[in-house]
Amino acid sequence: MSLDPQKIRADFPILHQQVNGHPLVYLDNGATSQKPRVVIDALVRYYERDNANVHRGLHALSMRATDAYEGARARVAQFIHAADPAEIIFTRGTTESINVVARSWGHAHLKPGDVVLATEFEHHSNLVPWQQAAQAAGATLRYVPLLGADGEGGLDLAALDTLLTPQVKLFAFTHISNTLGTINPAAELCRRARAVGAVTVIDAAQSVGHGPLDVREIGCDFLAFSAHKMCGPTGIGVLYGRRALLDKLAPDETGGGMVAQVTYEGATWKPAPERFEAGTPNVAGAIGLGAACDYLDSIGRAAIAAHDDALVRHAMDRLSALPGIRIIGPRVGQPRSGLVSFAFEGVHAHDVVTFANEDGIALRGGHHCNQPLMRKLGLASTSRASFYLYNTAEEVDRLVASLRKIQKFFAG
Ligand code: ALA
Repeated sequence: MSLDPQKIRADFPILHQQVNGHPLVYLDNGATSQKPRVVIDALVRYYERDNANVHRGLHALSMRATDAYEGARARVAQFIHAADPAEIIFTRGTTESINVVARSWGHAHLKPGDVVLATEFEHHSNLVPWQQAAQAAGATLRYVPLLGADGEGGLDLAALDTLLTPQVKLFAFTHISNTLGTINPAAELCRRARAVGAVTVIDAAQSVGHGPLDVREIGCDFLAFSAHKMCGPTGIGVLYGRRALLDKLAPDETGGGMVAQVTYEGATWKPAPERFEAGTPNVAGAIGLGAACDYLDSIGRAAIAAHDDALVRHAMDRLSALPGIRIIGPRVGQPRSGLVSFAFEGVHAHDVVTFANEDGIALRGGHHCNQPLMRKLGLASTSRASFYLYNTAEEVDRLVASLRKIQKFFAG
């Protein structure tokens, strides 16, 4: 069950270019992934052949567009093992998906005295919406702490015993930390939340394209992700919600496409998923996402996870041999996804990224939309290399060679 990254690279037109006179090494997959030809072709085919508005027309193109859009919904449901395509709501991305829950569910269910639980891992998308929802309701937001000076100990699962009280109405957590690479035990967290009656929301942006994922096995109520981090287009994402919860939820946005009956006095709503998709949806994006699901499954998600794991082990091995590098997050052997964040003694992350770019290497440097976590770890920023199915061990070696050069430069 292994994949051949050289063969896979042939599927990604963008990878075959030089940056600053060097072959591109793209290691910023945590921010966004590249797109294979089949996804690009699906978008072009849709615009060249089928483009029309969905659900509103009886003409051939509209019917084809509607079939393709609803087909993509069914494909996504299958991809994450949802029981029913109606549990798949298309949004603009992870951030919008979480905001839909925070606004719709939060408005209906949170009241003064309630607690929303999040974790110290959360990046801004899965943190600020909960701050807003808690503030609006007079509820309290609490955080499950992280263990270890570098966050290497993962979530403090023992603290959950005291934090998960019956006052907790919702528990929001990331499946994989975008900053540390930590993989959270999602099924266990959902089980423990369920035991106190709390609803669970998972940010799966960093996980869904990187390994097998089964929402029923995990047992979550809501799960959010973006297409662009899993070989799909930008501007489209998914909110998965359990049917029983969605059916009782009011929409947070209203307009055309989501209404059953409208009078001058008021309106009634269609059931989910249409209820949460006001206006003309991103039809092309959904079709591109469906093509991305097909592509990832043609490679095999278990093989992708194993490949990510081999690369991150190689990277950690090579990086830990470099003096002055502090690797953040889980140690070797602990559950870690295919990304590694590190601080470089005496060199700001922006300088690391700028210098690496001179060698054609794309990294991310900064606070990774995670200011509270950076503050907790006592860091202004880190550099991050995040891997995917088309990366190779040779590319990791090129990163290490570049970091050596940076080290020499700053050592004077
Ligand atoms: N959350 C994205 C990242 O980690 C943008 O880069």
